[in-house]
Amino acid sequence: MASIHTTSRSAELYERASRSLATGVSSSLRRFVTQPPLYIDHADGPHFYDVDGNCRADYTLGWGPLIVGSNHAGINAAVARQLEKGYTYGCQHIAEIELAELIVDSVPGVEQVIFSNTGTEAIQSAIRIARAHTGRDKILKFEGHYHGWLNNVLVSYRPKIEDSTLPQATCGGQPAGEFSETLVLPWNDVDALKDLFQRRGQEIACVLTEPVLANSGSCMPRPGYLETLIELCREYGAVSIFDEVITGFRIALGGAREYFGVEPDLSVYGKALAGGFTMSAVGGRAEMFEVLRDMRTIHSGTYNGTSFNIVAAIETIRELRKPGTYDRMNAHGHAVAEALTTTAAKYGLDAAVSGVGTVFSVHFGVTQAPRDYRETTRTDMETYGRFREAMLANGVQLLPDARWYVGTQHDDAVLQHVIKAIETSMKETMRCS
Ligand SMILES: Cc1ncc(COP(=O)(O)O)c(C=O)c1O
Repeated sequence: MASIHTTSRSAELYERASRSLATGVSSSLRRFVTQPPLYIDHADGPHFYDVDGNCRADYTLGWGPLIVGSNHAGINAAVARQLEKGYTYGCQHIAEIELAELIVDSVPGVEQVIFSNTGTEAIQSAIRIARAHTGRDKILKFEGHYHGWLNNVLVSYRPKIEDSTLPQATCGGQPAGEFSETLVLPWNDVDALKDLFQRRGQEIACVLTEPVLANSGSCMPRPGYLETLIELCREYGAVSIFDEVITGFRIALGGAREYFGVEPDLSVYGKALAGGFTMSAVGGRAEMFEVLRDMRTIHSGTYNGTSFNIVAAIETIRELRKPGTYDRMNAHGHAVAEALTTTAAKYGLDAAVSGVGTVFSVHFGVTQAPRDYRETTRTDMETYGRFREAMLANGVQLLPDARWYVGTQHDDAVLQHVIKAIETSMKETMRCS
């Protein structure tokens, strides 16, 4: 996997894009991932090939979805067959039922699902269902958790710590009135949760949580935390919602429900669900969807159930259900994590890894994995930034926030390559410090 690592063609294209495409990119964060933003020519299995001719092992997986890699023969064939039969119907089709059945069969405690396109949308559907179900308006979310880009949830995503229990806008254009029904707490703090429920439990429609805090350092829940959250919701008549847009079909076939052995009222899926196609879903017990059946509320969308996305999701889940798939992905992730910490130690760098085999984060400057957003603010992101630059030059593409994604396409050859790149890049990182 020889890497040339010139980026001049990407730089030219970025300059051209910036003239007609506002900001030059299609999602704000992408502007800062690399300088210049990389233009990808094509992707195949675990590799991204950019327009300058660089081939890199990819651990970004398109920010999570590419759990079975790119150019997957089964997905390609299923989508090609479907395209000949029509793109989107605005009517029902059999593949929708097949996908619903497959999800219900794969995820513990999910009896029914609804489909939409993005994680952002599905989160809003779950919140609306919870509000219609409870007749209440308040949403509780946690510091550092990301639930999409809409105003009622893009709150305290990167809060200033001094006054972080007050809900904070994340960017301009978010009037406080649009998140006046949103409450915020630090995560992984049982006492804070119990205290809030005792004071305001009767007002809360739903509690939204990432079960593994993948968007802020891949922090793991403390033992019993998720269980307490679900129990408090039941006791006070609120709806527990797991945002499994990252963890769903990733940390186990049955996501956090299977991994932690817990059953929230609703779970939201996206990303890995359709292997890179645009699909999301909300799942839960059948009774949770009564509010849609009796028309107390609605769930709609022109592109909900679009045929080629649905068949891509079916193929992705079939691939993930093959025996040994999660064991292999986890083994790969653990081997990479081990290489990161042992190589860091060899070069005198403090480092810790948090998360699970298929999604984890590396933290420099600390020896203990962080447990919440506040603790992640103490890690050394500057060193990670230099390490990531070196990894890019050594043929490995990584995300800027230190999160690594592993998929079925990451085989032994990729492992050998990444371990070598980690060794070289750590050495270079130390030399520059
Ligand atoms: C946990 C979580 N929830 C929701 C979303 C929003 O999903 P989408 O970007 O598909 O709208 C994301 C996206 O990164 C996410 O990580």
